[in-house]
Amino acid sequence: MCGIVGYTGYRRAQPILLNSLKKLEYRGYDSAGVAIIDKEMVIHKDKGEIAVLVEHLPKIEGSVGIAHTRWATHGKPSQINAHPFTDCKKMIALIHNGIVENYLDIKEKLLEEGHEFKSDTDTEVVVHLLEKYYEGDLEKAMLKTLKEIEGSYAFVAISAEEKGKIVVARKESPLILGKGNDENFIASDIPALLKETNRITNLHDGEVATITPKSIRVVDMEGNEISKEWKTITWNVEDAERGGYEHFMLKEIYEAPSTIHNTILGRMSALDLGPPLGDDFSAIKMVACGTSYYAAMAGKYILEEIAGIPTTVELASEYRYSSRAHERPLTILISQSGETLDTLGAAREAKQRGCPLLAITNYMGSSLARTVGENRVFYTRAGIEIGVAATKTFVAQLIALYLIALQLAQERHTKNSDEIRRMLDEMRTLPRVAWKVLGMGPEIRELAEKYHDVKDAFILGRGLNYPIALEGALKLKEISYIHAEGFAAGELKHGPLALMSEEAVVLAVAVQDHTYKKILGNIREVNARGSPVIGIGYEGDDNLRKFVDDLILIPKVSNIFSAIPVVLAFQLFAYHVAKERGCEIDKPRHLAKTVTVE
Ligand code: G6P
Repeated sequence: MCGIVGYTGYRRAQPILLNSLKKLEYRGYDSAGVAIIDKEMVIHKDKGEIAVLVEHLPKIEGSVGIAHTRWATHGKPSQINAHPFTDCKKMIALIHNGIVENYLDIKEKLLEEGHEFKSDTDTEVVVHLLEKYYEGDLEKAMLKTLKEIEGSYAFVAISAEEKGKIVVARKESPLILGKGNDENFIASDIPALLKETNRITNLHDGEVATITPKSIRVVDMEGNEISKEWKTITWNVEDAERGGYEHFMLKEIYEAPSTIHNTILGRMSALDLGPPLGDDFSAIKMVACGTSYYAAMAGKYILEEIAGIPTTVELASEYRYSSRAHERPLTILISQSGETLDTLGAAREAKQRGCPLLAITNYMGSSLARTVGENRVFYTRAGIEIGVAATKTFVAQLIALYLIALQLAQERHTKNSDEIRRMLDEMRTLPRVAWKVLGMGPEIRELAEKYHDVKDAFILGRGLNYPIALEGALKLKEISYIHAEGFAAGELKHGPLALMSEEAVVLAVAVQDHTYKKILGNIREVNARGSPVIGIGYEGDDNLRKFVDDLILIPKVSNIFSAIPVVLAFQLFAYHVAKERGCEIDKPRHLAKTVTVE
């Protein structure tokens, strides 16, 4: 997990590289570096955020260069382990996103051959392999090098002997090419390039590209030329910027209404919900990581209730190595980025097991979309999400799951068309519901001020709101560093009650569904142990007030849709608590937005 950019053209490379690199900081911020070819190869790197590098950087001439922002995997964050790396002669520079799994074996051989290493990284072996195979043609050296590499990568290399040329290769780590006039670009993702160009193509697994100011040549691993399709991206640069909010996370929370609208858009006219999902399965399995996993857990409740199809949920990192090859459920892979390595591994595994597949992702042309096949992807259309903590993309995933459940209900006649229509009509009101919750920002901020220095936070929910409680706890953990846990409220008496104390705060979801009375009982149990309780209930629920210390009242919706207003309340609460505590909200420590390593 790292951010990569490259430029070759007629302008000075340094400012272009640094501007683009800043857009990728969410992909990692342990260290950063640049390599630019002026009269010779010039390399600078620093530990820490890109700003540190920028501060230390002298003016470098030269109109070809590469830059990197790192999220450490092999080798601790340090200046020495920062990219780019060079060969022994300092002629070739290389940056990498991914992991070289067999680097120790390669390193041993290269050491015997006399190569000198400076870092503890897996990446450095690759630049020495390039040196070994280099005979005046970097593309050829790359193709030979790749034959020896096991693992995942986006490699980007330049050679001082071939000024103006950048050679890139990709397997399982994102890399895009951008076309300009007499200048060309590479980057890990689109926002990094939008200021410079909107003519984009994705480099796919097993492809190697050679880029000069006037040409882009893509070949396969055998060197056969491949023709690429170029897209014009309509996102503008503003889309990727904060838009006046103090943090990307807050902006993205406030984008929930438009996200819901966009994800629904065009998908439910005349009950034409989308291409048939098929009848070759009698069960569903959902597989994902992190926040997407909690969406999957919520999806179990949604699919079972709306479509009546038995559904199980599994973490991608567990599923990959499980041994239930006899099962053939519809396997739904959820990943906002479409690049999470464990989820991709799970997708391949499910494919191999012969399961029908479906993906829910926010990224068109992502590795996940390609693995399952573009016609089996539900795109969430949430737009770019920069904040490391997922917010609007989670909301969009829930919307996707509602729509998929309704489509299945229609295909399998588990609900009649009137019921489906009624639910779709209610879904159209969800952007308004979301706005109402967001309008409660000031009240939620007051609660955050009151409770921001608690030692622990426990979030209770039942049914559909149990996974939402888990997601609420994850948000608090990620950005405020408070120890937070979500519980199925019925489980309290089996252990968690022992944790309750006056130093904790409990958030309890008490919407008036069939579990309402039970959760009121659970609230009594924690109150009796001295923990203050914030109740989250429907507007007009005066009864709930009697049981809790504070209240967040969300608009009344059908219970199956309560996940949307409840999670928005949790997102706002986590945001304001983190702000009160002075945390780095958009870039929480030790975390990365997309994890492209195991
Ligand atoms: C990382 C992010 C999480 C995210 C998870 C899965 O851990 O920090 O916010 O939920 O990856 O990401 P995906 O892109 O697959 O949904």
